[in-house]
Amino acid sequence: MQAAARAHANIALIKYWGKRDSALNLPATGSISVTLDALHSETRVCFDPGLATDQVALESGGDPDRVSTFLDRVRALAGIDTRADVRSRNNFPTGAGLASSASGFAALALAACRAAGIDPSPAELSALARQGSGSAARSLYGGFVEMQRGRDDRTGADAHAVPLLAAPEWPLAVVVAIIDTGTKAIGSTEGMTRTAASSPFFDAWVSGAEADLTAMRTAIEARDFERVGELTEHSCLKMHATMLGARPGLIYWQPATLAVWQTLADLRAGGLAVYGTIDAGPQVKALCHAGDGDDLAMALSAIPGVRGVRISGLGPDAHLIADPW
Ligand code: PMV
Repeated sequence: MQAAARAHANIALIKYWGKRDSALNLPATGSISVTLDALHSETRVCFDPGLATDQVALESGGDPDRVSTFLDRVRALAGIDTRADVRSRNNFPTGAGLASSASGFAALALAACRAAGIDPSPAELSALARQGSGSAARSLYGGFVEMQRGRDDRTGADAHAVPLLAAPEWPLAVVVAIIDTGTKAIGSTEGMTRTAASSPFFDAWVSGAEADLTAMRTAIEARDFERVGELTEHSCLKMHATMLGARPGLIYWQPATLAVWQTLADLRAGGLAVYGTIDAGPQVKALCHAGDGDDLAMALSAIPGVRGVRISGLGPDAHLIADPW
């Protein structure tokens, strides 16, 4: 009744922003991401008949009630009522737009299912992780990953991720410029709800998604880095445009966020193949060829307001590990 798992964070190139159903956590659109080798969550779950309530220790922060609600789904699938002891940690800051919920719920889904004695298919596991956090569905897989919007609004069974390209097939790097590690004021669910309810740009965002996804899939298949980068920046800025149009408007950027963005444009003008993206937080994630990661990290760490940088290659599938505690 015990298992531990490691899952890696992911960064969306074509973004997910908006839900079509909040009970099942169904996305309004599909999305495409890369999984990061350097950022991961490790989670251990132990179902213990002696416990009266779930005991949840999130060493890197996070909401224990969300974990307990997620465990209820696993218990329902497994047909058990046993409470669990859960321990989890990340090797990066939680809740600051670095996708900690993605790696966290992916690791939790895998460890909890195994500990509960059930063995869902990869698609079922991804759909389950989605109910913890939309982006978590993608963190079950390594490399390039597509989250499918799905059509089944009754069960949500087809809203799950699929792998597009394994990490070794295209060695790229992501450099994260860390600007502020404080917890963000407005979480992604609240931000999405506000955007969908009040931004005049939201419908345009949803209707453009299929074309963006198709173009990105084609660019990845062709290993066309410039096209992947251009589509990535377009999706990012378009997502933030929907947020700016919400009432009240949502701005996750800080001055240093724009300073980094400008530096990426300057580096590109100077011949370095690099493109950026920003999630619901101030951090900038820059995509480059694997061999350019160190130079890029050096350039970004010199920008005032950048507190640190992390270089990552593309990472593997989520997997079971020996108990790390
Ligand atoms: O998985 P959530 O509910 O935290 O939403 C993730 C939203 C973005 O990170 C902004 C975009 C994405 O596709 O990861």
